[in-house]
Amino acid sequence: MTTFLKNKFEIFQDQLPPEKVKLLTEWDQHFFPWPWKTDVWPKDFKNYVACFAFDEKETIAMALFQVTDSEGPIHLLKIMVHPSSRQKGLGEIFFTQCLQELKKRGLNRCFLEVSSQNPAAIRLYQKCGFHQFHQIPGFYRDGSCALTMGNYQ
Ligand SMILES: CC(C)(COP(=O)(O)OP(=O)(O)OC[C@H]1O[C@@H](n2cnc3c(N)ncnc32)[C@H](O)[C@@H]1OP(=O)(O)O)[C@@H](O)C(=O)NCCC(=O)NCCS
Repeated sequence: MTTFLKNKFEIFQDQLPPEKVKLLTEWDQHFFPWPWKTDVWPKDFKNYVACFAFDEKETIAMALFQVTDSEGPIHLLKIMVHPSSRQKGLGEIFFTQCLQELKKRGLNRCFLEVSSQNPAAIRLYQKCGFHQFHQIPGFYRDGSCALTMGNYQ
């Protein structure tokens, strides 16, 4: 599997520079199906991990994870590929690299929630070795159900 070059992939743990916070919150408003309200964002990014990928000039993908318990699995909160870069395999390359980098930091297991109405994300997670744990009816604002998924048993 191809990975982004070292200078095209960044990872931040327990802190996030202000310019990255700005980028992440702007992308969330524009590109995430369920953007967070301003007051939901963490005050600092302790216990969070954020990853970013770039092409020659622009940011093309980002992800945000929360470390809920040092022994437990990490929680994927957000993953986004820029709309102009979607369906080219970048999501899979990026998420795979995020998981590899997390493993290097001892964060081996990951779980997430995804809307049953989001086939692109479900397919991406399946391709990256995730399987479904549960289904939570009415989890999202539009009444759609959430699938919980993880890359462990
Ligand atoms: C989900 C997302 C990150 C996928 O990124 P991507 O770069 O387009 O993904 P990839 O190109 O690596 O595709 C991965 C798989 O998903 C499939 N896929 C991608 N978009 C799809 C779509 N709209 N419908 C169905 N399948 C889709 C691809 O075909 C591929 O599977 P395949 O190899 O079997 O064909 C991107 O669509 C996105 O940013 N969506 C908005 C934010 C979001 O919904 N995040 C997830 C919230 S839980």
